[in-house]
Amino acid sequence: MKITVVGVGYVGLVTGVALAEIGHEVICFDVDKVKIGLLQKGKSPIYEPAIEEYLKRQLKNNQISFTTDSTIAIENAEVIFIAVGTPSNSDGTANLNYLKLATIEIARNMRQPIVIVIKSTVPVGTNEYLKSLIEKHTDVDFDIVSNPEFLREGQALHDTFNGDRIVIGSESNWAADKVETLYKPLEIPILKTDIRSAEMIKYASNAFLATKISFINEIANLCEKTGANVEAVSVGMGLDQRIGKYFLNAGIGYGGSCFPKDTKALVQLAGNVQHDFELLKSVIHVNKNRPYLLLEKLYKRIPTLTHKNIAVLGLSFKPNTDDVREATSFVIINELLKKGATVIAYDPICIKKAKPHLPKEVLYAYNIEMAIKDADAIVIVTEWEEIKQFPLKDYKTPQNKPIIFDGRNCYSLLEAQQADVEYHSMGRPSIYREKSQSGYMP
Ligand SMILES: NC(=O)c1ccc[n+]([C@@H]2O[C@H](COP(=O)([O-])OP(=O)(O)OC[C@H]3O[C@@H](n4cnc5c(N)ncnc54)[C@H](O)[C@@H]3O)[C@@H](O)[C@H]2O)c1
Repeated sequence: MKITVVGVGYVGLVTGVALAEIGHEVICFDVDKVKIGLLQKGKSPIYEPAIEEYLKRQLKNNQISFTTDSTIAIENAEVIFIAVGTPSNSDGTANLNYLKLATIEIARNMRQPIVIVIKSTVPVGTNEYLKSLIEKHTDVDFDIVSNPEFLREGQALHDTFNGDRIVIGSESNWAADKVETLYKPLEIPILKTDIRSAEMIKYASNAFLATKISFINEIANLCEKTGANVEAVSVGMGLDQRIGKYFLNAGIGYGGSCFPKDTKALVQLAGNVQHDFELLKSVIHVNKNRPYLLLEKLYKRIPTLTHKNIAVLGLSFKPNTDDVREATSFVIINELLKKGATVIAYDPICIKKAKPHLPKEVLYAYNIEMAIKDADAIVIVTEWEEIKQFPLKDYKTPQNKPIIFDGRNCYSLLEAQQADVEYHSMGRPSIYREKSQSGYMP
């Protein structure tokens, strides 16, 4: 099928490349000329495992192309996917401006009956609104389909080829069947539903996952106060198939471009229909406190941070991505700087993307060794494999014996004991360098 993807960000690029891979003829359109220029040369503007390999292959096969020309992108398309951003407004509602502009551009350029598929995450009722907006700008026939995206950054291609489900919401059987047909080679279970339910499935799924994270983080708080170990508790809970083992890792909370904005948008959406979504408000509140709880541990051990060197390991909001939107590292670094600390940050991939969002006083290291060399304390923010694999004993340098504050529970307590380091994590007893002092934070 001739497919156009509008908005070539984390979702749009992966969607375009995956659809090309299964044999469709794909044109990707974006208003960002720099991005399109890179993509035309086979270079990915985002870090996502294996994306460049797929991109180069499909460019070579002539299955995918990239343009900033909306006429070329739209006039011959049979199906158009829209994957532009829907960031938060200051009041937490979803900002639909990019989506409105994109749909008007499509309306003005479409020449034959098409299916318009909304992949962006949008509040319930948005697809219907967009339909009426397009109708105002064209006489050409079209149908609209809500097809929310569930991929995880860092595993986006894997998720696209091995998703748990594809949700297709439409009023038109013809359009729903067309979208089902184009996805058929993926052999992923398809759920066809009405448009509003499809929109809600996306928000409900993200809100549920965020709830799971905040729930285990609250249990982590209780573990710290009662002497239990949240790691063991998570395993014990996860073995129950009704609960499931995923999203039960205690830590410093969720960030990124989806959970924070989608939970806030759902609270707003509930408010619009006079429903107070108390549970979700608590989830958001619990999450907001997580980095501060780690910092409290640090302040208790090192009450004065002036002239202290603090290494921050990991800047992206999670491993295997260069996405720094709503990254917890920003909260932590800004707080440390406010207390007078010198911050030396390291990330394997996204220093360049993070730098413009951080104060200029932040120093950057090329590797972990350089970051920790003169550190009085180390704060682990993102559980990159490279950071998890870094031997705990190597944190002790000839110059320093830093204290480690691990916000992602990257190491086992046994490793920390054997490495003879002082180690504080989330929801687990602290390990002190003097073995006789092993136990909880005083
Ligand atoms: N990133 C994720 O992990 C993820 C997962 C599931 C769903 N989503 C949802 O998918 C949507 C896209 O997210 P993303 O992270 O890919 O966003 P992104 O910010 O990475 O990409 C959006 C792209 O749209 C382009 N754009 C903006 N306005 C445009 C227009 N009028 N015409 C053409 N292009 C335009 C931008 O230049 C940008 O390249 C959002 O609604 C998001 O909530 C994201």
